[in-house]
Amino acid sequence: MIDFLLNGQPRHCEATPEISVLELLRETLGAMGTKEGCASGDCGACTVAIGETGADGELRYHSANACITPAHQLHGRHLVTVDGLADGDKLHPAQAAMVECHGSQCGFCTPGIVMSLFTLHEQQRREQDKALAPLTPQRLEAALGGNLCRCTGYRPIRDAALTMNEHPEHRPLWMDAAAPEPKAGPAMSESPFAQPTTLTELIECLERHPEARLVAGATDLWLESTQRLVRFERLIDVTRVAELNVIEETTLEDGRRGWWIGAAVTYTRLEPLLEEHFDAFAHLLHRLGSSQIRNRGTLGGNVANASPIGDAPPVLLTLGSRLKLVGPEGERELPLEEFFLDYKRTALQQGEAIRALFLPYPVEGETLKVWKLSKRREDDISAVLGAFAWRLDNGVLRDVRLAFGGMAGIPKRAARAEAALEGKAPSAAAFQQARLALSQDFQPMSDVRGSAHYRQVSAANLLERLRLVLIIENQAQDATASPREVMLHAYAH
Ligand SMILES: Cc1cc2nc3c(=O)[nH]c(=O)nc-3n(C[C@H](O)[C@H](O)[C@H](O)COP(=O)(O)OP(=O)(O)OC[C@H]3O[C@@H](n4cnc5c(N)ncnc54)[C@H](O)[C@@H]3O)c2cc1C
Ligand code: FES
Ligand code: FES
Repeated sequence: MIDFLLNGQPRHCEATPEISVLELLRETLGAMGTKEGCASGDCGACTVAIGETGADGELRYHSANACITPAHQLHGRHLVTVDGLADGDKLHPAQAAMVECHGSQCGFCTPGIVMSLFTLHEQQRREQDKALAPLTPQRLEAALGGNLCRCTGYRPIRDAALTMNEHPEHRPLWMDAAAPEPKAGPAMSESPFAQPTTLTELIECLERHPEARLVAGATDLWLESTQRLVRFERLIDVTRVAELNVIEETTLEDGRRGWWIGAAVTYTRLEPLLEEHFDAFAHLLHRLGSSQIRNRGTLGGNVANASPIGDAPPVLLTLGSRLKLVGPEGERELPLEEFFLDYKRTALQQGEAIRALFLPYPVEGETLKVWKLSKRREDDISAVLGAFAWRLDNGVLRDVRLAFGGMAGIPKRAARAEAALEGKAPSAAAFQQARLALSQDFQPMSDVRGSAHYRQVSAANLLERLRLVLIIENQAQDATASPREVMLHAYAH
């Protein structure tokens, strides 16, 4: 049984392990305002807002795709849907602005768009001084990037977003109501949807049911249910395990300092740390899925999923990340490189979970670049992704690490290309060798995202881009060189 608030009303519902929030709403509770479009997290028609009370006692809403959010994760939370936004006959500012700006034609996408605007509005309200936190184009794109509209066109929707704060603040009072305290069941590890809250409870669940599937944000796992009709007999939800939700500073035995990122920390929570320390990684994060996906998806899920086109693994490989795994036999650590064995096969044993991922502090003098190639900028999976780190020591490349996604059955470093550059000046000849070496490092596959040839050429082009960037960044110190001169110089070398 799950207990939650739906638009301020307490609900006590029975739910099977594989039922989604969308199914619960439409099929069990008859709340039909939330629509189903793609059932795979791509279109945003099913967007809802989920309110959680944080450690500071404040209720915060985040947007989520109801079609791929497990209903059990609502336990102890506050679910807000489009059916509940208006305050009697007074429209919420997100709704009023959409009406005023003609932001809807067929209207199928509209409930989802209104809900994305609602969560944006809620965040802005929390920031209190809207004048000081203007809606930048980046923030607007991030808020609406996970919502497709096929007939209105985005300009009126954008106008609605830009003007919603000018509408009267009609908002039902229950929106600030705290969600019910989650009650852990007495035989929690026997529940088909176990929700442990501590590491000890998680290990107990893993010991009793090593065959259970683990679920975090469900943004990968749930596609097995909606697209491949897999039925989950037993799930262990890691999202409430306190120890998996922390970011801790640490020093490893080898002396490297950095952070252990709990496997259940969402991308949205990770964003400030990346923005402060890893520009290139933060930029990639802004292009990973949509707000709805980043609000729920985790690094732990991205790595455990072991997709060859997952975005984070190549970056983590380049940074020299490690994993901490837990299970009934205890804890063990291993370098991320030893985790990926073969296509979708990892070193994770049955009954083990990822506890945390180690992210080292940026090394002085080291540069990180990450380039993702996909068909769309927003909300699209990579065809090829290159992550590159190096130091320039007296004009010579040192500690070169080049990792790629989309080029093999697993995310992988390009050992031969790295060797071609290590200890060399970043000359055209060295990069020519590195590009040639790439064809020995990888024999990519053809699939819907790109042919093997496209992938091979694109990866080589990313190395060429790296060479040009190195030249440009060196030249940038020469303030007298024009951008054209810099480019000509780059091509001449
Ligand atoms: C619309 C859409 C867009 C997307 N865009 C991108 C994108 O641009 N780039 C990208 O890389 N990915 C993308 N994804 C995929 C997905 O969002 C990411 O891989 C995400 O990081 C998965 O994390 P999660 O917490 O949702 O994992 P889940 O779906 O909960 O789990 C994924 C897998 O990891 C396992 N798992 C989860 N946590 C643990 C743990 N602690 N220990 C061991 N195993 C665990 C699960 O059993 C499952 O096998 C997208 C998905 C969707 C639906
Ligand atoms: S129905 Fe398309 S994102 Fe959920
Ligand atoms: S109004 Fe028709 S899809 Fe957006």
